[in-house]
Amino acid sequence: MPTVFITGGSGFIGSHTCLSLLENGYDVIAIDSQINSNKFTLEKVFEVHKSSKNPTKKLFFVEGDIRDEKLLDEIFKKAILRKKPIEAVLHFAGLKSVGESIKNPIKYWDINVGGSISLFKCMQNNNCNTIVFSSSATIYGVNQKSTSLKENSSIHPINPYGENKVTIEKILKNIFDSSIKKWKIANLRYFNPIGAHSSGLIGEEPEGIPNNIFPFICQVASGKIDKLEIFGNDWPTEDGTCIRDYIHIMDLADAHKSALNYLLTKDSQFINLNIGTGIGTSVLELVETFIDINGCDFNYIFGERRSGDSPNVIANNDLATNLLDWKPKKNLKDMCRDGWLYQSNLNKEFVLNSASSNLQKLF
Ligand code: NAD
Ligand code: UFG
Repeated sequence: MPTVFITGGSGFIGSHTCLSLLENGYDVIAIDSQINSNKFTLEKVFEVHKSSKNPTKKLFFVEGDIRDEKLLDEIFKKAILRKKPIEAVLHFAGLKSVGESIKNPIKYWDINVGGSISLFKCMQNNNCNTIVFSSSATIYGVNQKSTSLKENSSIHPINPYGENKVTIEKILKNIFDSSIKKWKIANLRYFNPIGAHSSGLIGEEPEGIPNNIFPFICQVASGKIDKLEIFGNDWPTEDGTCIRDYIHIMDLADAHKSALNYLLTKDSQFINLNIGTGIGTSVLELVETFIDINGCDFNYIFGERRSGDSPNVIANNDLATNLLDWKPKKNLKDMCRDGWLYQSNLNKEFVLNSASSNLQKLF
């Protein structure tokens, strides 16, 4: 099976995708600056992989920044020397806080767009032309309609983070158009990934106070945060709270595996795919499901609407489910249960089962 290069491999989505790829026979080289993650995550990924049916695959880790073109080039060259060249890239590395992107746009353009350009240059120089990029439903901007979003719905980012994602998609399209039948590119536009691997060993662990609803709920339920404020109950939806398309993190991880398999077996192409379940859930439904399935209770209040929010953000996922060998398998209860299991395990100390690190060194 091919070797793949994962940027941002120890982050929330990258780590679960590493696991999905290892379990499907890929060798993985991951890079991460660990600006928003830590080195234990990939140790845990390999720990979970070791207890699976076919635990033979290798997980290489390099601590570094994707803006370091020299380092990226060395990684590609080293893989060639190992006679296992990198055949594809999954590009997760970047910053993702909408609020921070408004306060510090230069940082966001530098890391997200600058980092992507370094990566694409290096891919081109090393003749690696297959990439799956982490895009976002945020590029569709404010959706006032109750209909689901299609890939050809209008693109109207409303903050620097969203602008970064649109720009990276555009750069990738320019690269694709620059050479005939060479590049294979998939932009996966994620909706709202939540939950954790069912082992409870890997999950989402944001720094500081979480911006997103699900880690916020987990921290309120664990007593770390006092109460949840639901942003508005006067939206034009059935219960007045906003509707989102929550997708289990392992379904999202598997979508990457399927997109990769698809690109590697097909001719050159450029595709945009919505990755969601196609099912809308209100904030109140999410909160009530979490409380119900986990048997815990916590305080929530209704506050003002949050600026920039849309009442309805639901994926039309027909293209992804028709094109890829993929469809989401897990439901909202699974997301709430697995996410809470991970949160509950956070206080326990992680002990490696092996004497030394699980991770291979590339250099
Ligand atoms: P995350 O912060 O958990 O993971 C991103 C990883 O990239 C982190 O481990 C971080 O340390 C690393 N990183 C950041 N800058 C880097 C750099 N310059 N060089 C190397 N590594 C760097 O975020 P995530 O939720 O796993 O998101 C992954 C990708 O998916 C991001 O590009 C994000 O914008 C996109 N996305 C996320 C969501 C979501 O809801 N989580 C939704 C849509 C799109
Ligand atoms: N919400 C609350 N209280 C909170 C946090 C959130 O009520 O404390 C509500 C929001 O108003 C929204 C819903 O919960 O209605 C979901 O909010 P999130 O912040 O979790 O997610 P968003 O859909 O607003 O945005 C997220 C990411 C974006 C990404 C987008 C993809 O933050 O970066 O999903 O659809 F682009």
